Amino acid sequence: MTPISLASLKVGYYQSSCPSAEAIVRRSVSKAIAGNPGIGAGLIRMHFHDCFVRGCDGSILLDSTPGSRAEKAHRANNPSLRGFEVIDNAKASVEAQCPQTVSCSDIIAFAARDSAYILGGIEYAVPAGRRDGRVSLEDEVPQNLPPPTLDAQELKDRFAEKGLSLDEMVTLSGAHSIGVSHCSSFSDRLYEFNSTHPQDPSLDRSFAAYLRTRCPPPTTESNLDPTVPLDLSTPSRLDNKYYKNLGHHRGLLTSDQTLLTSSSTAQMVKNNARHHLMWEKKFAKAMVRMGSIEVLTGARGEIRKRCRFVN
Ligand code: HEM
Ligand SMILES: *[C@@H]1O[C@H](CO)[C@@H](O)[C@H](O)[C@H]1NC(C)=O
Repeated sequence: MTPISLASLKVGYYQSSCPSAEAIVRRSVSKAIAGNPGIGAGLIRMHFHDCFVRGCDGSILLDSTPGSRAEKAHRANNPSLRGFEVIDNAKASVEAQCPQTVSCSDIIAFAARDSAYILGGIEYAVPAGRRDGRVSLEDEVPQNLPPPTLDAQELKDRFAEKGLSLDEMVTLSGAHSIGVSHCSSFSDRLYEFNSTHPQDPSLDRSFAAYLRTRCPPPTTESNLDPTVPLDLSTPSRLDNKYYKNLGHHRGLLTSDQTLLTSSSTAQMVKNNARHHLMWEKKFAKAMVRMGSIEVLTGARGEIRKRCRFVN
């Protein structure tokens, strides 16, 4: 059984029930990105983190409750995941027009698409009709969201569990062409790789030297965890520079550079680096497929009134 069910969602789902829904979301997203392009990166990442844990059901948006810590409390999301207030604003505007009609999970999918359009000129229609889940558990994050230390084979397995192919995994990793990473997500590559190599040999030496000026050694007695752009060459442009960077051994995360190091994915990286239009098309298609993972439709789930709380 595949976790992906494209057939249950529909482009233009709110055409009669809430015709302005997608325009309202786009307005909220445009405004937020005009103030800070990094928010667009956050919204694309939010869609990924929502879909990989319990499917695209808005579970990433639920706040922790007294007895239960939610997904957003996990270290993979807290404090780095951003854009929650954009979803809250969009939801409030949509509710004012069409009460309890548009799901929070659809709003995330629209917002991710709008971000890809604004930051990369990548256009695609979003099939909608997702309903919101009522459960969000911190404990479910680690087994579902891949950590940045994985190699290509492990990443392949994690994506396959969600019904996504190896090529889709490589294509979607191109989202690391925008936004930032905290030093803690990759500083093992700079200082304490293994007993014989202090530095990861798959990392360009001058790039590593630059990164050491930005990131303190993990052993220092400070809680400082600065951020570095994932794609230093065009940090706010969603483009195929990410793949070119990998060719120069400038992938920031282990999970990035492994795509070139591994023989199973190296050719895909090279093709994406060479053919940007082809990559953009594949990216749009893969985002739609990722957006269909384990969705709740029909009578399952609910349409939340506020995205942080179940009804
Ligand atoms: C292939 C497995 C993946 C791994 C291991 C991974 C891991 C990470 C890590 C560790 C960060 C930095 C977090 C921080 O320290 O601040 C990050 C950032 C980001 N990721 Fe991924 N990621 C993966 C796939 C994806 C996918 C599929 C997407 C979306 C399609 C995505 C979108 C992003 C974006 C846009 C950022 C920057 C966020 C910001 O600036 O707020 N990632 N990712
Ligand atoms: C350290 O990493 C390098 C490069 O991946 C590898 O060749 C070497 O065998 C590793 N050394 C140890 C002790 O694991």
